[in-house]
Amino acid sequence: MNLIQIDKDKCQRDRICGLECPGKLIEFRGKGAFPSTIENAAEFCIRCGHCVAVCPNGALTLENISSEQLLRLDKNLLPGPEQVRHMLISRRSIRTYKNKIVKREILEDLIGIAQYAPTGSNKQQVYWLVIEDPAESNRLAGLVVDWMKLLLEQTQDEALSRRYQRIIKAWDNGVDRICRQAPHVIVAHAPENIPAAGTDCVIALSYLELAAYSQGLGTCWAGYFNSAANFYPPMQKALNLPEGHRSCGALLIGYPVYGYQRIPTRNAAQIIWR
Ligand SMILES: Cc1cc2nc3c(=O)[nH]c(=O)nc-3n(C[C@H](O)[C@H](O)[C@H](O)COP(=O)(O)O)c2cc1C
Repeated sequence: MNLIQIDKDKCQRDRICGLECPGKLIEFRGKGAFPSTIENAAEFCIRCGHCVAVCPNGALTLENISSEQLLRLDKNLLPGPEQVRHMLISRRSIRTYKNKIVKREILEDLIGIAQYAPTGSNKQQVYWLVIEDPAESNRLAGLVVDWMKLLLEQTQDEALSRRYQRIIKAWDNGVDRICRQAPHVIVAHAPENIPAAGTDCVIALSYLELAAYSQGLGTCWAGYFNSAANFYPPMQKALNLPEGHRSCGALLIGYPVYGYQRIPTRNAAQIIWR
């Protein structure tokens, strides 16, 4: 089967598919020619679907991706720049959660949105582990605290040591500063041998975080949790990620108790212009 099929009744020979193809795999052999692919195009194609998605006439099918199968972009559903700006600057890390679980359908939907995040070479090698059971989130937080106790014995860094001590003391007093009593934790993991996987996972989690905010949910990056997932064997055993995968980022998620009223300031951007 050819990599692309062209419906010659629909194709206007506008060349847009070829101009937009990231690998420049679509060519036009002669003036007024229909699109065709270069030799070995299938080997170089990253299956991004741009050629199908961009065609104004729905004339192109890429392997099994036809234009009819793709969701149509609805410009009326897009927020304006002001809304986007306000949403992005008003997202906050949430650290106080309601004792209420998030339905699986909602978490699944958020992950589905995050699947649309860009990935290096369109590899789409972002995998998910959802800690759905609040008791398990709490147990894992306890493992992170165990790890901190070990680190405390080893570290020479005074400031770090004081920070760990406070977190451990809080835990001993029933205050979870690791998972913040969030009901769920979402971990993005990926095969270690994929160079861009760490970046891919972080971008996907950022999509998820913003999508969650738009749905009235709160999230917080779980940095200590993710470090323990990478460096503390009992935590690795508890997470039981697939062989050869590493945790690339984790988000706490749940319903926030408090709503923020104002937007904290940020440092001015430090930019080098050339
Ligand atoms: C990679 C990363 C790791 C983080 N780890 C933690 C964490 O372990 N615990 C926590 O409470 N917040 C964590 N945060 C949240 C930051 O503290 C927070 O983003 C920052 O203070 C700015 O606040 P904002 O997210 O509300 O704008 C982390 C954020 C990032 C990006």
